[in-house]
Amino acid sequence: MTTGQKLGVCYYPEHWPPERWAIDARMMREAGIAYVRIGEFAWSRLEPEPGRYEFDWLARAIDTLHGEGLQVVLGTPTATPPKWLVDQMPEMLAVDAEGRVRKFGSRRHYCFSHQGFRRECARIVSALAQRFGEHPAVAAWQTDNEFGCHDTVESYSAAALAGFRDWLSQKYQSPDALNRAWGTVFWSMEYRSFDEVELPNLTVTEAAPAHRLDFQRYSSDQVVSFNRLQTDIIRKHSPGRTILHNFMGSFLAFDHFAVSADLDAASWDSYPLGFLDRDTTDPERKQRYMRVGDPDLQAFHHDLYRACGRGRWWVMEQQPGPVNWAPHNPAPAPGAVRLWAWEAFAAGAEVVSYFRWRQAPFGQEQMHEALLLPDTTPNEAYHVVSAVSREIKATGAVVATTKAAAAIVFDYESAWAWQIQPQGKSFDYLRLVLLFYRALRALGISVDIVPPRADAVQGYGLVLLPGLFSLSDDLADALGADGQVVVAGPRTGSRTPDFRIPDTLPPGQGLQARMHLKVRRSETLAPPFAVGIDESANVCAFETWREFLSLGEDVRVIHTTQDGEPAFCCDATEKFHYLAGQPNAAYAARVVEHLCGKAGMAVHRLPRDIRIRDNGPTRYILNYGHEPVDVTQWTEGRTLLLGTEILPPCGVAAFRR
Ligand code: GAL
Repeated sequence: MTTGQKLGVCYYPEHWPPERWAIDARMMREAGIAYVRIGEFAWSRLEPEPGRYEFDWLARAIDTLHGEGLQVVLGTPTATPPKWLVDQMPEMLAVDAEGRVRKFGSRRHYCFSHQGFRRECARIVSALAQRFGEHPAVAAWQTDNEFGCHDTVESYSAAALAGFRDWLSQKYQSPDALNRAWGTVFWSMEYRSFDEVELPNLTVTEAAPAHRLDFQRYSSDQVVSFNRLQTDIIRKHSPGRTILHNFMGSFLAFDHFAVSADLDAASWDSYPLGFLDRDTTDPERKQRYMRVGDPDLQAFHHDLYRACGRGRWWVMEQQPGPVNWAPHNPAPAPGAVRLWAWEAFAAGAEVVSYFRWRQAPFGQEQMHEALLLPDTTPNEAYHVVSAVSREIKATGAVVATTKAAAAIVFDYESAWAWQIQPQGKSFDYLRLVLLFYRALRALGISVDIVPPRADAVQGYGLVLLPGLFSLSDDLADALGADGQVVVAGPRTGSRTPDFRIPDTLPPGQGLQARMHLKVRRSETLAPPFAVGIDESANVCAFETWREFLSLGEDVRVIHTTQDGEPAFCCDATEKFHYLAGQPNAAYAARVVEHLCGKAGMAVHRLPRDIRIRDNGPTRYILNYGHEPVDVTQWTEGRTLLLGTEILPPCGVAAFRR
């Protein structure tokens, strides 16, 4: 069954007088909005006193929205436990790595490990699901809100310590096994029982890497089970509804694939201008894209969360104007808000939902724009939403996703491992992955992000595994099927799951069975130092991370560093490749173009600000730049569906084959 792509909005009826709700609902319908997310921070209004539920106002709000034909995404309110609950069980508060209690007075002030808090969550979620689970307007649920936001995945509380010890005893069965796995003999850190193990904070210098990685795994597992506690309850009382969680951008502290396994679809909160200002260091890039956002970052997350949702995903919160939380908060360029919606639809989003309906004149986010001004006047984004909804109708845009030709393997454990052991201050797993992602996009290639599993890499012409901490044998065996082109490195396979250097040296036996090479040394380079590649006069270079390889006789060197070491090589079949460093953008482009050539993929060297996203028969072209661009050279055999062939700044066009 095909479903049309839809728009949504985040609404807080508890912030406004009930007399206003009907007007808001009507205006939402008039703007073409289909979904309204409500309730996710309303615990103190839903249960003002312990055990005294006040659900009638929510029922009335839901009925009001329903009256206009709107569908509701009901949020569970567990991100904002009320004061009375915190006072009842103060040990539910999270503790930061410095040992300080994270106090009441904002949000997310809970420890995932606290069993008493979990029981309270189960209680309020059950009560809500029983009351509203079968309401005809309730089409979906959102569990909690942005797990991990404000640095809340890890807690160093007493509850976390008890939980961690228990988790370790289940994983290792005996303290000896733990000692071996962690290498605790190293500094006389050996344990005689699991009760001697502490959390890896407040140590004099760093705790053992395997200890830290296990604590990260434990903390991630707490997010998974906390989410599952809620999804099990919701599924029981609210059959057939889509259960989602709203994930964040550039956030890797728990395994999103694992949390998503209990959801029906993934969603994420996309704030392109906030992310650019917060996460970009290059001043030129920041200035150029200040009002439109990084041309690859939204798309990367769309592709990542599509993988998490096994094909089904939403944007739950889309930036509508200036936000309040980035270091600086510029306004979007005219057209940018529309561009973001279509970029998401191009990547197969079911729903793009805006944060938020009306700007709040009180509270922490007063400076965050919305579809309406605080005085209820429609703001710019309101008109954009109306226009996009007309475009969806006119084009008949339906939810569709087709497999891309190239896949990048993405792994949360690798992010944790390399954060624990960066070896060079500027080494960053996400940045490394994005280098390859950007290089593929610059060649007009649509990309799938896939988890590190054997079944996930099948059917792609090209598979990239940058920085993958540890490879299972299954994954290594699955690579290369049907003549697939593969590239590994740098750092790929360089540790066992226990955070040891493999006995056969990196990249480990699984990859060494396919390519006869060893990494015998790694060095890191402080920016701006770089190691040039062959005669390219430093245009192409390794930055930050660089490896020295010993090669078997059958390995072919494709590029050599200026100091005479193998930089990029392949096996005799020219299918398996290894890259011995972190490429700069120019070198990533060259390597990726070579790989696409080997995989027989057609490439377009796109202008800097243009991006292409293919989805089945539809090709979307997006202009992140300041100048109009004639896009007809990329549209051969296709007819125009949306936009114009001369694509204005912030323009989007769609063409169908
Ligand atoms: C998100 C969050 C929302 C709101 C928004 C502001 O991180 O889920 O509740 O705070 O940011 O941009």
